[in-house]
Amino acid sequence: MSEVTTELNAGVLTISISRPDKKNALTNAMYGALADALERTEADADIRVALLQAEGEIFSAGNDLGEFAAQSVGEGPAVRHVERFLRNLATASKPVMAAVQGKAVGVGTTMLLHCDYVVLAEDAQLIAPFIDLALVPEASSSLLMPLRIGHTRAFEMFALCEPVSASDAHAWGIANKVVSRAQLHVEAQRIAGLIAQKPAGALALAKGLMRNTEQVLQHMERESRIFSSQLRSEEAREAFRAFAEKRKPDFSRIGKG
Ligand code: COA
Repeated sequence: MSEVTTELNAGVLTISISRPDKKNALTNAMYGALADALERTEADADIRVALLQAEGEIFSAGNDLGEFAAQSVGEGPAVRHVERFLRNLATASKPVMAAVQGKAVGVGTTMLLHCDYVVLAEDAQLIAPFIDLALVPEASSSLLMPLRIGHTRAFEMFALCEPVSASDAHAWGIANKVVSRAQLHVEAQRIAGLIAQKPAGALALAKGLMRNTEQVLQHMERESRIFSSQLRSEEAREAFRAFAEKRKPDFSRIGKG
């Protein structure tokens, strides 16, 4: 079965991530399918709003670490679909929503900054573990997170890599509301249904006025260059090896010659 599925109903395109055995970690192929779904959203006049959600216990464990490990030794795919996905997300003219349960790690969290309406389940936890992986924040989150929640909270989130609870994420403006796990998809569909009935032209114009897309894309490119070079660093390779070997990374000897 496909690891990203879509369903169109009454103007709402629901895009579901479904790789529960690997905690919905995102592979290059899955980014490709997500990017395609966002392109379909732009192109199809019957789609008024896109809703990102995930099946299983957690929203997403972020980028597949096996693929990061391969890329760190120069064995990555010829085309990195993550870049198309993030670009499509940042430039989406129609409203994009997300419904999040359990952990949202890495890109699972940073994609939310591009969404226009985010519903969290009470057990949601947002985690940005880039520094622990010896990487830097991506998806323009090093720009958008401080803008959204302030430098002090953003720095703490990125530097300490500790989970942010649903209630804090709501209070800090990352999410619109927090509901019970049982109500998550019901409530997200209800809000999506309301958005789908609004005049689409005015909504797209308003969204365009609210977001500085050029600035976001420029920043994303700068981040991406630094991210790619850091991905190949010795400290990042140690972090990926440690994950594969189910142990804590040891950064103490790196850089000491
Ligand atoms: N990439 C690839 N595989 C992943 C993964 C990832 N990001 N996250 C989890 N998995 C896999 C595990 O390797 C494991 O596979 P296995 O059953 O073949 O051993 C399976 O998913 C279950 O993961 P597990 O760690 O046992 O689940 P958990 O409930 O104890 O913990 C997480 C869930 C998400 C907290 C934990 O898996 C984790 O920290 N993952 C890495 C997150 C990360 O750093 N992502 C990169 C962000 S940039």
